[in-house]
Amino acid sequence: MVPRIVAGSASGPLAAAVATAMGTELVDSELDRFPDGELRPCLDGVRDDDVYVVQSTGPPVNDHVVELLLLLDACRRAGAGRVNAVVPYFGYARQDRRRRPGDALGAPVLAGALEGAGAERLLVVDPHTVALEAMFRIPVEMLSAVPLIADALAPSLPDESVLVAPDLGAVKLAERFAARLSRPVAVVRKSRLTGATVEATELIGDVAGRRPVIVDDMISTGATIEAAVEVLLAHGAASDIAVVATHGLLVGGAVQRLAGLPIQQLVVTDTVAPGDAAGLPRQVLSVAGLMAGAIARPHVRRR
Ligand code: R5P
Repeated sequence: MVPRIVAGSASGPLAAAVATAMGTELVDSELDRFPDGELRPCLDGVRDDDVYVVQSTGPPVNDHVVELLLLLDACRRAGAGRVNAVVPYFGYARQDRRRRPGDALGAPVLAGALEGAGAERLLVVDPHTVALEAMFRIPVEMLSAVPLIADALAPSLPDESVLVAPDLGAVKLAERFAARLSRPVAVVRKSRLTGATVEATELIGDVAGRRPVIVDDMISTGATIEAAVEVLLAHGAASDIAVVATHGLLVGGAVQRLAGLPIQQLVVTDTVAPGDAAGLPRQVLSVAGLMAGAIARPHVRRR
């Protein structure tokens, strides 16, 4: 089957770069919106094809989720041979467990919706939780931007650097970076007070005089990074701080918040379309090659 790439509106440039890397063109598609806000995507010409719908579910999250579901359904109804959801940034993955009675579990609800809409395989990049795989019955391929980001950091990384997990959930990620970059790890203990406020309570590890490289899967409001920076500086870390994350959402005043911190280097990827980051030393790496490789793999004839 020929791989065909469909671009959702959240991921147009990334999907185009994937198609270019694969030597193909995007499937023609349209996205209408009814006056009441309903979305109506439309595509054709994918009969019997192996179709990859590329759509991150970043902000506005709910519109992008619904558009993704409708695109998957459109592919199925147009007679696609196989329908693949490519969700470089998978929103709702933070809702993988109930934190208080009465909470919903957003991640498995979304998993069920994607399967119901016709996804037969899922590709994601550095999801917030690896438990995402267990929420699906369809095969899930988890790609990682860690090698890409680590390679970008390596040439200018001082020997006296330390990889910092800004919360306990990021420890494994920090360890993966540390293994590639041969530097130690420190960990900030954080508690989240609200969606946009967090509190850093403790630092584990030695950061005095070292250049911190804070690593996280995503930066949303920047509150986690801000709290980590405060703790690091209070413990004598060098002030030329680097911050890296696969998904740079930068919402809710994140740009202003981060611009007020002594961040010398900010590395993210294009899993979420990069918005304005004026005043930030932001570098955006593309995951297009990574995704194109993953899409092409099943199509390479094995000898
Ligand atoms: C949470 O566990 C995630 O890994 C990130 O640390 C968090 O989502 C970042 O959000 P914010 O930038 O709003 O603190």
